[in-house]
Amino acid sequence: MTTLVDSFGRHITYARLSVTDRCDLRCRYCMAETMTFVPRSDLLTLEEIVAVADLLIRRGVRRLRLSGGEPLVRRGILDLVHSLGKRIGHGLDELTMTTNGTQLAKAAEPLAAAGIRRINISLDSLDRERFAHITRRGQLGPVLDGIAAAAGAGIKVKINMVALRGGNEDEIEPMMRWCAAAGHDLTLIETMPLGEVADDRRNHYLSLEGVRHTLERRFTLVPSLVRTGGPARYFDVPALGLRLGLITPLSNNFCSGCNRIRVAATGTVYGCLGHDQKVEMRDLLRSGGPQALDRALDRLLAGKPERHDFRLADGPAVARHMSATGG
Ligand code: GTP
Ligand code: 5AD
Ligand code: SF4
Repeated sequence: MTTLVDSFGRHITYARLSVTDRCDLRCRYCMAETMTFVPRSDLLTLEEIVAVADLLIRRGVRRLRLSGGEPLVRRGILDLVHSLGKRIGHGLDELTMTTNGTQLAKAAEPLAAAGIRRINISLDSLDRERFAHITRRGQLGPVLDGIAAAAGAGIKVKINMVALRGGNEDEIEPMMRWCAAAGHDLTLIETMPLGEVADDRRNHYLSLEGVRHTLERRFTLVPSLVRTGGPARYFDVPALGLRLGLITPLSNNFCSGCNRIRVAATGTVYGCLGHDQKVEMRDLLRSGGPQALDRALDRLLAGKPERHDFRLADGPAVARHMSATGG
């Protein structure tokens, strides 16, 4: 079976599987206050998600990341993780998850038992009121409990902080210190123009290249050799004992190293986060047969865009929100 190589010679070895577009939070840079979600009847079943995973593994995907929306709000998610976890060591190198952490206090132990060794958790503020403001309906306490539970279960935690001008930029250094003290990695992310939200993202965009220059006046940042295969560039901050990642889609493009595709909860597979280029897998899973599924993947790879075209000035680059494809 041929591996997945796109027309720019990039090898696809990583897939993000979104298991739901729903979320219990409404982070302002991500969602509008009122969202229309996909009807549950349009979602792939858990068995179909496993079938997609097996297809991707057969075609050379070695790492899977479960995302959402919020993956832990999908009913049966722990069964799914358990099933996928059995593929680790049998074609799959790693199974990971990106979560908002609200349900993690309960879920951490079963996730660890199923084979999850690394988890990325969104945390944009350590201030209770600000956290509630940014997430619109979240509470900081349960998320901090979830983070502690994940670490306690032996899962390596990476904190994702979307850096927002006038929103949380004054917390970047405190967050670095907090993560270092707790032994977590930290990744800062530039806000990306995906889907309409109430706020104008231009007002909150913070260039992380700029943040890096500011940080370099206070700390030595040592470029790290560590690559997780993701878009982040990592730096060690020896003064704090921190590994810091920067995800800079707008200020420093990383698409030439792209290794990924993303499967939405409906079975739509997207070639790029910043484009609508896609193939539909759900009907093929139900009645197409294995060859039709392989052909669909080949079509996706042949048309995978070279790079995103995110520009804040023009509003959302694509109409779908990040939550539709899990980032
Ligand atoms: P690891 O490197 O495996 O830790 O994961 P990750 O950083 O790829 O995953 P995570 O789900 O934590 O995503 C962090 C941020 O990176 C989110 O805002 C994602 O939307 C963004 N991101 C992930 N993959 C891509 C990509 O291919 N392109 C762009 N532009 N952003 C991405
Ligand atoms: N731009 C950048 N990051 C976003 N996230 C959600 N929406 C956006 C956006 N528009 C982040 C979440 C989570 C990760 C999956 O993506 O905070 O950490
Ligand atoms: Fe790949 Fe598109 Fe992400 Fe760039 S924006 S890294 S091309 S998925």
